[in-house]
Amino acid sequence: MSLNKSVFEENESSVRSYCRKYPVVFEKAKGSYIYDTDGNKYLDFLAGCGALNYGHNNDEIKGAVIDYLMGDNIAHAMDMYTEAKAEFIETFKTEILDKRDLKYRIMFCGSTGTNAVEAALKLCRKNKKRSNIVAFMGAFHGMTLGSLALTTDRTSRDGAGVSLDNVTFIPYESGFHTKLDSLDYLETILLDDHSGVEKPAAVIVETVQAEGGIYVASVEWLKILEKICHDNDILLVVDDIQVGCSRTGTFFSFERAGIKPDMVTLSKSIGGYGFPMSLLLIRDELDIWKPAEHNGTFRGNQVAFVAAKKAIEYNVKHDLNADVTRKGGIVKDFVEKNILPLSEDISLRGIGLIWGIDFGKLANGGEIAHSIADKCFEKKMIIERAGRGDSVLKILPPLTISDEELKQGLEIILEAVKETL
Ligand SMILES: Cc1ncc(COP(=O)(O)O)c(C=O)c1O
Repeated sequence: MSLNKSVFEENESSVRSYCRKYPVVFEKAKGSYIYDTDGNKYLDFLAGCGALNYGHNNDEIKGAVIDYLMGDNIAHAMDMYTEAKAEFIETFKTEILDKRDLKYRIMFCGSTGTNAVEAALKLCRKNKKRSNIVAFMGAFHGMTLGSLALTTDRTSRDGAGVSLDNVTFIPYESGFHTKLDSLDYLETILLDDHSGVEKPAAVIVETVQAEGGIYVASVEWLKILEKICHDNDILLVVDDIQVGCSRTGTFFSFERAGIKPDMVTLSKSIGGYGFPMSLLLIRDELDIWKPAEHNGTFRGNQVAFVAAKKAIEYNVKHDLNADVTRKGGIVKDFVEKNILPLSEDISLRGIGLIWGIDFGKLANGGEIAHSIADKCFEKKMIIERAGRGDSVLKILPPLTISDEELKQGLEIILEAVKETL
């Protein structure tokens, strides 16, 4: 039955955003689809902004969650020891960390990604006794004040109400600032005693800038970045909140570069089922927190631990990484063959199952991308935009999407692009 939207419009804060782009009332969801209260079925190419890598209501994960709830097992325990947490840690360690020869301590943070970023910032500053952090233009790291200081888009920053400082921004590798060698610039800042820039405690990087417009850093660039950090006693933090958990075809997005960050933030799909969960991975000797020095009530959603454990097992059992890489090839081939020939001013960037079709070089590229996303929604597909001027159409389906669903979504995008151009 159709539901009146006035309950939201009259009562909810004007800060709401996604509901303005997809103005229907959603009710059910399964796999790659979401259903509204009128029974319309929408193909989901947004996937909870990366929180639903395993699809909606994944049966294998759901089974474990229901069993846990039905057994009256503990649901909330702050950071107390529980069986659910122990099982998650053991599974994460054996299936993810040990297999990659990664040794990290796990810090469970408050329930959203920005909490892990805040914890990383504090701990880097505490270790190095320096306040400055280097971040990249185009970065998105969250909305609380520390993370927001690292986040670049004007709309987000305008909401702060205080100065956002102790951060030095430098250009990212590819695309937007092609003329500037950003790592050469970083080294110059560090080595020149007249650079005027305080030595940073850390560099924080997304190996694929997602909200920034799907810019994929090269392996070579990431390796040089790691070396500069090591050579200059600066910590390297990889924010894997959006592109971790197999989004790029490896569990951690930095695996392809063979680098070992000092700290890693993870959230979104680590909770397996869309459940809130966030963690910071810390190189052992950097874990200098005093007990309770970074605290929070919701640092241990036990149901999320159960889902997270099952999600890792699902990931390994179904060889998700290989499947993501294969499906990424389907996206690339389709867009290169059918959409790029429509205009030489359209470009494609991406890896695994995160892709951006960039309309930014077209006059009114932002409006064009907006119109395409709206037309996709009319055609019953949910898709988001990102990047400068919101001119990049962002393809971010659940990793579990079938080949048929993926192709169907790409056909919808093609139709919408043709109708708009
Ligand atoms: C790379 C990255 N870091 C941090 C965050 C913040 O996560 P949350 O919205 O859960 O606080 C996001 C959210 O989109 C993100 O993409």
